[in-house]
Amino acid sequence: MARLIAPSMLSADFGNLHRDCRLVNKSAAGWFHLDVMDGMFVPNISFGFPVCKAIAEVAEKPLDAHLMIVEPWRYIERFAKLGVQYLSVHYEACNDRHLKDCIKQIHELGMYAGVAINPETPAEVLIPWLRQIDYVVVMGVHPGYSGQKYIPETTEKVAVLAEMIAGAEADCFIEVDGGVGLSNIAELEKLGAGVFVAGSAAFSADDPKAAIRALAGN
Ligand code: DX5
Ligand code: ZN
Repeated sequence: MARLIAPSMLSADFGNLHRDCRLVNKSAAGWFHLDVMDGMFVPNISFGFPVCKAIAEVAEKPLDAHLMIVEPWRYIERFAKLGVQYLSVHYEACNDRHLKDCIKQIHELGMYAGVAINPETPAEVLIPWLRQIDYVVVMGVHPGYSGQKYIPETTEKVAVLAEMIAGAEADCFIEVDGGVGLSNIAELEKLGAGVFVAGSAAFSADDPKAAIRALAGN
């Protein structure tokens, strides 16, 4: 997979949400990244269904929703109804039975299933799941806020995961989320990541479209 940029709408201007959605439509971005936070799994609360719906109404590219919430299995169907195509839940929010149920529901509803892991969660926990999921979300920051500094150990984790995926002969891509920018994106891609979430690197730039183009390597 070529380098795909998923701008995080958490960093958009919510007073001009449709304008920023149109900007992403016209940009080199591949997807929209939706960061859903519940104030329980992470300390912060971001947005829920009404905002996701407003984005879905204007988005002309696939929606990639990242659920930083407890009990994610309760909400999977509602994200499918919104038209989300890529849905990730956190490993840390689930026991094995829950994770199995989430993956099953996501697939039965016709979406791609991702599992996200926090910085302190070792890549190895995903070994039993790699052949059942479509992507892994490797957090480059502690989830909860955009604009944080990239945790350098993430790079090694991406390399380990890429080897694990190859070793398992799994058909699974790696998405890196948090702290991604021009200083680390090329190396992460070289090590095997294919999708890159960009919050502040995209929307804090003077010219977000140019920033997204640069991140995409165009
Ligand atoms: C963090 C979110 C990220 C974040 C990305 O909890 O999952 O998607 O908003 O923002 P940046 O790119 O600024 O780290
Ligand atoms: Zn995210």
